[in-house]
Amino acid sequence: TSGGSDAAKRRAGESAAEAVTDGDVVGLGTGSTAAHAIRAIGRRVNAGLDVRGVPTSFASRRLARERGIPLVDLDAVFDPVASREAPASDGGTGIDVAIDGADQIADTAIIKGGGAAHAREKVVAAAADRFLVVVDPTKVVDVLDRSVPVEVLPDARATVARTIRRIGGEPILREATRKDGPVVTDNGNLVLDCDFGEIDDPDPLATRLASIPGVLEHGLFVGLANEIHLGNDEGVEIRDC
Ligand code: A5P
Repeated sequence: TSGGSDAAKRRAGESAAEAVTDGDVVGLGTGSTAAHAIRAIGRRVNAGLDVRGVPTSFASRRLARERGIPLVDLDAVFDPVASREAPASDGGTGIDVAIDGADQIADTAIIKGGGAAHAREKVVAAAADRFLVVVDPTKVVDVLDRSVPVEVLPDARATVARTIRRIGGEPILREATRKDGPVVTDNGNLVLDCDFGEIDDPDPLATRLASIPGVLEHGLFVGLANEIHLGNDEGVEIRDC
């Protein structure tokens, strides 16, 4: 969660929620900005909108349930056997639109994973026909320079950390704040926050990180966004990618 204004985040989230239409399967992102979108979709569902949500985390699942959004499992959306049991209301399959926040964005390259949910977030974003990113102005930079969260198999944290150092990064194991020991992801893995300084060219770094054995997923999202909904204190600007 960033320090951006809640009003700006709300405008971004509500703007993206407007893009959802009847019959859609919707990827529900994680974080305080995506939560505004989930609440707005919940209000539309209560007013009669027919959608099903695919949550990206424990937290987004819980919020969507609270707000009365019907949910569907990711595998049921794409698996022909499972989806016969729970057919999409439009008769089709797949995720029509996914809405999610970001920790930092430069042009269309994004760093995610501040909430350690980036593995599932990336699967859902990549599977969606349209991926809408919801941010406030504090997220927008010219050059990415935040640490890149890298989810790793617990046993592989040391070998992955060694490789990260060899390719110019400084990995730090993410520690929990209200428990002794490290953050454990929804998938039972650990997170290395990897400082690469300024990332002038995110695409090759994304490819390199993905190739390290023991890496489940990393938080660089390159070439996935279709629209950026940038909320500010006056309104919202929608950028097509
Ligand atoms: C979760 O892992 C992240 O990718 C979030 O989407 C990100 O931290 C955005 O959160 P805020 O909208 O609260 O800043």
